[in-house]
Amino acid sequence: MDLHPRIEEAKQRFLEELRAASSKDLLAQIKNRFLTGKESVLRGLFSLLSKVPPDQKGEEGKTLNAFKSWVEIEIERVQVALGSAPLSAEDPTVPGKIPPLGRRHPVYRTWEDMVGIFARLGFDVAYGPEIEHEKNNFEALNIPLDHPSRDAFDTFYLERPWLLRSHTSPVQIRTMMRQKPPIRVVVPGKVFRPDKADASHLPMFHQVEGLMVGERVTFAHLKGMLLLFAESMFGAGTKVRFRPSFFPFTEPSAEVDISCILCGAKGCPACKGSGWMEILGSGMVHPKVFQMCGIDPEKYTGFAFGMGIERIAMLRHGVTDIRHFLENHFRFLEQF
Ligand code: PHE
Repeated sequence: MDLHPRIEEAKQRFLEELRAASSKDLLAQIKNRFLTGKESVLRGLFSLLSKVPPDQKGEEGKTLNAFKSWVEIEIERVQVALGSAPLSAEDPTVPGKIPPLGRRHPVYRTWEDMVGIFARLGFDVAYGPEIEHEKNNFEALNIPLDHPSRDAFDTFYLERPWLLRSHTSPVQIRTMMRQKPPIRVVVPGKVFRPDKADASHLPMFHQVEGLMVGERVTFAHLKGMLLLFAESMFGAGTKVRFRPSFFPFTEPSAEVDISCILCGAKGCPACKGSGWMEILGSGMVHPKVFQMCGIDPEKYTGFAFGMGIERIAMLRHGVTDIRHFLENHFRFLEQF
């Protein structure tokens, strides 16, 4: 049996139908009828191979395969033609369509800027897990069992002793367990607290932790580093102010404000008339924390700080509601 006339006949019919294919639906029908359907023309032709004498099977098979590939390519070609906009198909001078480009999220951009500033000051960048052990999140940071922040209210517990870290400070512990001084490290990452979302709270947000440990590291170094940070982040002339505070893992502890970047410390609604905006918690590493990490507090001193990335992003961009960062509205995100 000679397949050639049948192939030729199928080809003519296929071309005729293809010329009439004016829509994707029609084309799909043709594809089904000739190529992919259960009773497609090509299937029919292939089944006829069994009737071809053995010595011609090879030749006929090749011809048939070539025909099949050609049908596939022709369908593909028409598919592309039907898919493109009618205008540009006819008018090659119509400008192409530029696909919408994504961009980095404002929180992540601030993350990179913050880490970049400390990296240029000689800090290494480290990361820790979001699921932590109580020991790292609390005990080794000198936060005793009866401390209010251990209350299940302030921490998402998984199965004890596991929890979602409520700050990046456990990475201080992980770093000092692994590495002995001198240490200079910044740690960006996600933290979690069971707070109801409002204009200034989210149950998940980001922090950057800083830790510097060495011989004769003093509070003056902390002040110098944070002043440099504030000037790089918010512009020359930005001032910092230290207020006494308390954290179980630092002694002494301080909360740090920057001069209001909107009014230049004169007092405005953004700084509630005070001229200052709080940006972080900090202090000198508590000797007990050193001891628990196997570092000699007689020989070494150090400072640590932790600040919220969303908070910094809000200050620098004038964002007044932290929830905007998670709502994914393009009208918000496109401004950055
Ligand atoms: N971990 C503290 C917090 O989340 C911030 C902090 C870090 C304070 C390091 C002092 C030293 O509030």
